[in-house]
Amino acid sequence: MTSAIPPQTIKTDRKKTTTHHLRNLKGRGETISMLTAYDYPTALAMDKAGIDTILVGDSLGMVVLGYENTLPVTMDDMIHHCKAVARGAKFALLIGDMPFMSYQISVEEAVRNAGRFLQEGGMDAVKLEGGRERIEAVQAITGAGIPVMGHLGLTPQSVHQLGGFRAQGKTAAAAKRLFDDAIILEEAGCFSLVLESVPERLAQRISQRISIPTIGIGAGRYCDGQVLVTHDLLGLFDRFTPKFVKKYANVHETMQKAFTAYIDDLEHKGFPSTEHIVEMDPDEWAEFERLIKS
Ligand code: KIV
Repeated sequence: MTSAIPPQTIKTDRKKTTTHHLRNLKGRGETISMLTAYDYPTALAMDKAGIDTILVGDSLGMVVLGYENTLPVTMDDMIHHCKAVARGAKFALLIGDMPFMSYQISVEEAVRNAGRFLQEGGMDAVKLEGGRERIEAVQAITGAGIPVMGHLGLTPQSVHQLGGFRAQGKTAAAAKRLFDDAIILEEAGCFSLVLESVPERLAQRISQRISIPTIGIGAGRYCDGQVLVTHDLLGLFDRFTPKFVKKYANVHETMQKAFTAYIDDLEHKGFPSTEHIVEMDPDEWAEFERLIKS
């Protein structure tokens, strides 16, 4: 197989990305790159490409496990996938997404579960959804020495409360609440903030107002960084593609073609052929024949 990535674009002279580094990137006006990953080979490829930060998102519930939404994802699901990503990526800042009901019930449970992401999952930080109602959890988790990324706007774990996967912050009152929540999360100790599906000008205003980096997904051009769900970017998730996604490949189609070619090869005896077989020394074979006859 030939490599599609020219060797000069593989960044090897890297240091491990830290939360401080992300803040410096914001200070210098350099865009922070973030993608989701859920397995070893994907994390390895991203790390080689030079991604700043990888999110093991609970989106894995939809794009990997095939659920309708992210609500069924458990702590054990998350830890399993975090471990695989941590084995693949050595340089990117690794963020584990706290699943539904892992931080909402009590502050104690929130801290314990956040700790599992670092102790068992090999993550460097955690992300959780919500604004002012999460102050105590954010303070307690950061108080335990665990960096927290916030997530405002379309927060998929609240899909039923929001009435579907729809853009947020479109009225003046909703925008004001979101703006205030961003400030509250910064003050509570978050090191960064995801803004999902919000008007571009609101995301811009929030990014100017707070000193921690904002990472946008469907939040326009003026966030400090951008994130996409990797299965959307690769064209690997077949069910739907959100409007804000740019597809860089059509891997679902590529996979389907490869599987069809394999089945076709089997039907027409095109695989395995001589280059795929294991040879045996003729003398050993003669001895084997003798042994089974005796
Ligand atoms: O779960 C996820 O992948 C996310 C991103 C969309 C930010 O939360």
